[in-house]
Amino acid sequence: MYPLAQFAVSLVGLSAVFPSLAAAATADEWRSRSIYQLITDRFALPSGSSIDPKTCNPAQAKFCGGTWQGIMQHLDYIQGMGFTAIWISPVNQNIPGPTAYGDPYHGYWIADVSQLNDRFGTADDLRQLSDELHRRGMYLMVDVVVNNVASATIPPNYSQYLFKDPSYYHPYCQVDHNNRTSAQVCWLGDTKVALPDLDTENQIVVSTYNQWVSQFVQDFGIDGLRIDAAKHVRAEFWGPFCKAAGVFCIGEVFGDDIDLAASYQGPTTLDAILNFPQYSALKDAFTIPGPGNMSSLVDQFNTARRKFTDVGVLGNFLENHDLPRWTSFSVDIQSMFNAMAFSFMSDGIPVLYYGQEQRFNGAGDPVNREPLWPSQYDQGDTYKFMAMLNQVRNYLTQSGDWLHQPAQIISYTDEALFLAKGYVITVLTNIGSPPKNASASMIGSGFSPNQVMIDVITCQQVIVGSQGSIYIDYRKGGHASILIPEYYIRGSDICTDVQRASYQGMTPQKSASSGAAPARLSSAELASSMALLAGTIVWLTVGAV
Ligand SMILES: *[C@@H]1O[C@H](CO)[C@@H](O)[C@H](O)[C@H]1NC(C)=O
Ligand SMILES: *[C@@H]1O[C@H](CO)[C@@H](O)[C@H](O)[C@H]1NC(C)=O
Ligand SMILES: *[C@@H]1O[C@H](CO)[C@@H](O)[C@H](O)[C@H]1NC(C)=O
Ligand SMILES: *[C@@H]1O[C@H](CO)[C@@H](O)[C@H](O)[C@H]1NC(C)=O
Repeated sequence: MYPLAQFAVSLVGLSAVFPSLAAAATADEWRSRSIYQLITDRFALPSGSSIDPKTCNPAQAKFCGGTWQGIMQHLDYIQGMGFTAIWISPVNQNIPGPTAYGDPYHGYWIADVSQLNDRFGTADDLRQLSDELHRRGMYLMVDVVVNNVASATIPPNYSQYLFKDPSYYHPYCQVDHNNRTSAQVCWLGDTKVALPDLDTENQIVVSTYNQWVSQFVQDFGIDGLRIDAAKHVRAEFWGPFCKAAGVFCIGEVFGDDIDLAASYQGPTTLDAILNFPQYSALKDAFTIPGPGNMSSLVDQFNTARRKFTDVGVLGNFLENHDLPRWTSFSVDIQSMFNAMAFSFMSDGIPVLYYGQEQRFNGAGDPVNREPLWPSQYDQGDTYKFMAMLNQVRNYLTQSGDWLHQPAQIISYTDEALFLAKGYVITVLTNIGSPPKNASASMIGSGFSPNQVMIDVITCQQVIVGSQGSIYIDYRKGGHASILIPEYYIRGSDICTDVQRASYQGMTPQKSASSGAAPARLSSAELASSMALLAGTIVWLTVGAV
């Protein structure tokens, strides 16, 4: 199914001899993947753990007991949602806690990056996790912190770090986030937990880091790196670093500044960044309550295509460990479903932050780092929605050239948006769950009249009307629609189980496989569609049909 799967089969017999064979995946190999991001301490307790599962309160910022073994024992849960890669929180040695901000349970408070963090397991545990992922045809992405170390004292006790001489650090200054030089050479953090900033212009620091990362990736069979605080290091540091790593590098360039973000993608720097500008635009467009600003998303989308060298490998996300959970500010679940459908059906690598599939609603750090185990790893509606999106995207990425077709926004209004990528048209709306006598339609889709499309979310047929018109009505609420020509998914597993349309709170009436009558345009609807100009979409209120 995936290139790695075949490789992994032959690896099984060898794994005792070569336990840490790196798959060393490139940006292009990551392009088809989808990523499940997790915090090791919060994702899963290992079996036999003596920790009381009820004691973890994220507000207290204490260690809760999750480990790499725990992750390995719950890979079925992740793979059951169709994810083909995981991104785990940093694995390297941290300063001892507690600090004024609690324990270093998240792993970002690095002491010696060349050592593993024994809170989360042994080197063998981490290698076993890597091997098990590869056996399943999945990739391992590890979060690394290179910009800085952490210290609960000022001045820091440098003897505990990999870089022991103070001359390997930039001298202390407080970061001014509006000044790019300052953002790169000054110290993040504060006086309670300082984040001493490595002098990444120093050639000894550069070569030590490059040697370290090369060995680290090989030792643990790492397929990709997520790079913390990437924008706090000069962009050109990352080119040689990622080359030494020999794997895909995706960096955190926090904020809406698309020029800054784009300056961190390219041959002399990172392969990709996590798409924060798109995150903001998705919020503008889809949150309920919210500004309902679709044109913000369209602007961002079009600007990104001019500025980034390769939008196909940017990370598309709605949540992460630093942001409030989507459902903490957007109360209607259809808002998340529509925004998520955009993330999966546009260009870029979809990333889901653990717990989003359980509709966790922590409103920011630290309460957005909930333990997952109280959910009992339930496979509820949102889990099933994610599984459906991955099923569809995984199918598309393996069939033909879909992945390399550029996404385009072909039409939009304040309430709805038509996104095309290859032969897939995704129709998204921000009107929310309540049924509404409303619809979205466009003409000039490029499909021939009478073409049978399957909405793979509801598994219902949508028939293309005259002049390539497409019509979606919202009398059952503002759901997302992903329309694929019927012949492209014939013979696949997509929509063979009509039951799953129930996650939308909707009863599937006409399934693709039942051969029931398609949802044809009524004559009144057709008349309104035909009155439109090609390539435009109207927001119309329809009467009783
Ligand atoms: C600094 O850290 C080292 C190693 O952890 C320790 O032996 C030493 O006592 C520490 N020094 C101070 C001043 O805390
Ligand atoms: C920006 O920050 C650098 C480093 O702290 C400092 O030397 C420089 O004066 C700052 N520039 C401005 C315009 O504040
Ligand atoms: C929508 O977003 C655009 C682009 O960010 C902005 O210029 C515009 O003012 C916003 N419109 C509203 C109504 O907020
Ligand atoms: C839609 O319109 C029909 C006819 O005008 C009306 O009977 C029905 O209540 C409306 N439904 C909603 C949700 O507004």
